Amino acid sequence: MADETTGNTYDDVPYYSYAYPQTHPDRLNVIAHLFGMTPTPVENCRVLELGCASGGNLLPMAEALPGSTFLGIDRSGRQIDDGQKILKESGLKNVELQHCDILDFPKDSEPFDYILVHGIYSWVPEPVQKKILDICKRHLTPQGVAYVSYNIFPGWHMRGMLRDMMVYHSGQIADPALRVAEARALIDFLQGAVATQDSAYSRLLQDELKLLKRVNDSYVFHEHLEDHNEPVYFHQFNDRLKQAGLQFLGEANFHTMMARNFPEKVAATLQKVSGNNIIRMEQYMDFVRNGHFRQTLMVHNSIPLKRDVGGRPITDLFVACAAMPAEGADPSPANAGPTAYKLPNGRQFNTTKSVLKAALPIVRGAWPDAIGIQDLAEQVHEQASPRTGDRSLSVDEVAAVLSADFVQLYSLGVAEIRPRSLGVEKTAGDKPKVSDLARLYAKTGGPLINLRHETIKLNDMGRNILGLLDGERTRDMVLSDLVDLATSNKIKVQRSGQVISDPDTLREVLVKPIGDTVSSLANQGFLVGG
Ligand SMILES: C[S@@+](CC[C@H](N)C(=O)[O-])C[C@H]1O[C@@H](n2cnc3c(N)ncnc32)[C@H](O)[C@@H]1O
Repeated sequence: MADETTGNTYDDVPYYSYAYPQTHPDRLNVIAHLFGMTPTPVENCRVLELGCASGGNLLPMAEALPGSTFLGIDRSGRQIDDGQKILKESGLKNVELQHCDILDFPKDSEPFDYILVHGIYSWVPEPVQKKILDICKRHLTPQGVAYVSYNIFPGWHMRGMLRDMMVYHSGQIADPALRVAEARALIDFLQGAVATQDSAYSRLLQDELKLLKRVNDSYVFHEHLEDHNEPVYFHQFNDRLKQAGLQFLGEANFHTMMARNFPEKVAATLQKVSGNNIIRMEQYMDFVRNGHFRQTLMVHNSIPLKRDVGGRPITDLFVACAAMPAEGADPSPANAGPTAYKLPNGRQFNTTKSVLKAALPIVRGAWPDAIGIQDLAEQVHEQASPRTGDRSLSVDEVAAVLSADFVQLYSLGVAEIRPRSLGVEKTAGDKPKVSDLARLYAKTGGPLINLRHETIKLNDMGRNILGLLDGERTRDMVLSDLVDLATSNKIKVQRSGQVISDPDTLREVLVKPIGDTVSSLANQGFLVGG
């Protein structure tokens, strides 16, 4: 057992602490808003994260929202120490990381507007699970929203079978790295043993092996080899919410709540069997998807929720969408037929709506940031003078139309709704700047998180370049600094497998990667204003 080493598996094998956009107060705020609540503005809120590891999720939130305060707790002293070192260097004053067990969370703590619990609930014993929901009930402000992620059935019946075998095979091994290696080796062996069979078991092993190859050892250790891993059916989790005095608000991935995203016949049957009951609907959708993980938002049970999403305008919110017209499509608002749009991830959607067609290029122009619906409506109105039938629409009417259209796109999972603009600088000038925390993480090997709260992977050279973009250095100075780093052997620059040390050759070789990295950082939402 790994616990024989320190008594805390997360001290022995720290978890890579990343940012999770689905936990961001922006997301929680918007979904609460859509269901008729008046959540606390994210620019001035209090956030608690339980099991924050070394703060990879909380610190970037705190930097992006300087008017809000953030508290993270974790029972792993080693992870909190790591986080505190970064925190001290970052100079952030609005975030605190505390070494504290969830069970010892003080009853008299101040309330929070947003409580985040990611990757913990299923992996802790029942008293801690109960305490997590107690904390959500006791410490949420009246319009507060909590996020809890957890493993679910039916999907975990299949994954759990593999976990049982991995635990059986590696359970006697004390060294965590060896345990993980043995667990991986077992699945590898089993998959090979049944590879030629045309069976569900063979396909299951193949899928798990593919997943295991993509994830790091820390993930395998904590996901599969922890002592506790207790999945539940969604309806059982909902019963626990009720017992705690909470209620289901929605899922952090909003579009997963929409039965109409399934084929028509499936959606119709789902409607029939769920009888307009949202809990039954969610449960049946898990059955259809063989769901294995949920990211549920919850609020006080006394809040009257309005489920007619789209019925109320969201003109005070912001929208973002990276869609471009698909090849050959006619995006002109005057074209009354359907126009196909394509997202960078390959997803497509169609619209016949002329106001939306006029809006989408403006929204694309604002990407990777979001644009306020009111601002968007004014621009659409100015450019296109939209009409309904014989009548021209006023700016407010355009805003109302766009509200409904973007709620629909959000429900499809092809556009974002946000409560604010992210302050992304889109033009990469001569002195590009990324946030202080991103530069610090680039130097310390931490996660690289953009203003959209996404973790982005960069190669070593990308990291080195990002670490120098402080808004003071020109691109030429960045080049000189990189050349200095390479000639003093602090970084390695290669061409055709040969390490380069000649300064002139280095200058020649490094110009392009600097230009490319800066452009790609601009597109990915890393650049901030000077
Ligand atoms: C799988 S990690 C998830 C970390 C982070 N939330 C994330 O998703 O990246 C689980 C975290 O919960 C912490 N944890 C487990 N039991 C805890 C408890 N009883 N009190 C506080 N933290 C706990 C662990 O130390 C670890 O950092």
